[in-house]
Parts: sequence; structure tokens; C-alpha cells
Amino acid sequence: MEEKTDYLSRETGPIGIFDSGYGGLTVLSEIRALMPEYDYIYLGDNARAPYGSRSYERVYQFTLEAVKWFFRQGCRLVILACNTASAKALRTIQQIDLPTLDPDRRVLGVIRPTAESVSTLSQSGHIGVLGTEGTIYSGSYELEIRKLFPHITITGEACPMWAPLVENREYDKPGANYFIQQHLQKLFEKDPLIDTVILACTHYPLLMDKIALYLPKDTKVISQGRYVAESLRDYLWRHPEMDKKCSKQGSIYYFTTDSPERFEQEASIFLNEQISARRTDIEQKA
Ligand code: DGL
Repeated sequence: MEEKTDYLSRETGPIGIFDSGYGGLTVLSEIRALMPEYDYIYLGDNARAPYGSRSYERVYQFTLEAVKWFFRQGCRLVILACNTASAKALRTIQQIDLPTLDPDRRVLGVIRPTAESVSTLSQSGHIGVLGTEGTIYSGSYELEIRKLFPHITITGEACPMWAPLVENREYDKPGANYFIQQHLQKLFEKDPLIDTVILACTHYPLLMDKIALYLPKDTKVISQGRYVAESLRDYLWRHPEMDKKCSKQGSIYYFTTDSPERFEQEASIFLNEQISARRTDIEQKA
């Protein structure tokens, strides 16, 4: 059944926040903390998560379906709060799909705002990027950071087990240490001069306590939620025409493509509060 949000006027709509599952909730928290007056719709494509090891075609197809779903809910602005979707689908959606879907709506990602934050933090000019296979092998962080700061050396490390550790509530268990140590060790073997590490996956802030155990002393960690939130606020300041189209009643609605009960339980880990979720199908029936 298509969910229609009855609280919307025709002229304005909530800001859509998309993730393959729960990870985007870490970004949503920071956005809401900074801009509590806006309305938001969060969608987790839990039925098809994780996206991290999926092909370009699949991630693009799923993300485009999600964007169309948000547009049908009245969203004028959608944030892909998922690095894998931002890495593999954002550019094509912005350049190929948006002009025909609706040139007045916008879809933004998390990679550019994170890339913008790095130069002020690194002294050595050597940065490590930790993410899913999709994000790391796409080279998107390297591309975005090099565009802005050509002198910076970027080294990526794909951590395919990390998001599943979070999704399966193993993130604070002793078994998680093995996978975390393994990838951090590999990253620093590749480039021992790294002094700043980007957590380029929205799930990773939940692994922060364990990540800190295996990082060389004084390594700075960029957890992207705050930067994405600040960049969104800045975007809306610079684009009053879009700001006017974003409704502001301080509401939040949660949707998932899988079990709402499970979503409510798991979301509490990410948000530290109880929420209520609804199930939706994002594929548009012919
Ligand atoms: N949330 C996704 C990201 O930020 C990771 C989880 C997944 O593999 O779907 O890349």
C-alpha cells in the first residue's frame, strides 16, 4: 500500500532521509539536533540491506526507486544518508534522472560534505577512509577530496563485516574486535602517515569505542553526521527557494521496507529513544 502523508500541504514537504537500513539514523540525529524545526521522513530499505557489497546497477536501481518514493510523499529535498548509495547512485540520479523526474527537486549525498571537512583536521595530509566495499572501490572519496584538496593522500580500506556487525547487534561484543583490528591494521600498513580517518559508513559511529582501541594515539576520527547536518543547514541558507518548500512543523515519520517492529527495536540503539515505524513498498507497481 502506498503511504500518503496527510499532514502535508501541496506547496511544501518534509526532507527525505534515505539509508539502506538503520545507519542513516546516525545522520538523521545530527540533522534533527541542528534543525529541529523541519519535517522529516526517514526510509530504511531494510528488506534489501545491506547495499555495501551489491553491484552498481542494483544500488542505483534501489536508490532511484527510493528517490521516486520520497517524491511521491511530497519531499522536495532528499538526502542519501548512505555512503554506498551516495557513491554509486547519486551522480547518475542528479545528472540523468532528476532533469526528467522533476528539475525543481534536489537529491544530495554525504560524500561531498564529508570531503569538505578533511583539510582542517589533517596535519600530515594523509587521510584514511573506512567504508563498505561499494564506497571504497567506487573511489568516490578520493575523487571528491582530490577535487578540493589535490595535495592530500587518500588511502581506503573496505570493511565488509563492519556494517553487518552493527545490523546484527554484535558491535559491542568481543568478536567484533577481531574485524575492527584487522582492517585498521591493514589501513595503517598501507600508509603509516595517516593522522585522520573518515568513517565513511553511517553505521560506523556505533563502533567508535572499539575503533578507538586500535587507532594510533592522536589519530583524528571524522564521524560524518555533524558535517552532513552543517552542510545541509548551509545549503538551505544559500537556497531560500528550496528552504521555502521544506515544511517546518518539527515532525518525523519513519518507514521501512521490512518489519516495522524490528525497525522500532533496532532504531532505539541508534537514536536512544523509542519510535514508531510503518512498513512501505518502495517499488512502484506498473
Ligand atoms: N549505510 C551504508 C553506508 O553508509 C552501509 C550499510 C550497507 O551496506 O547497506 O554505506
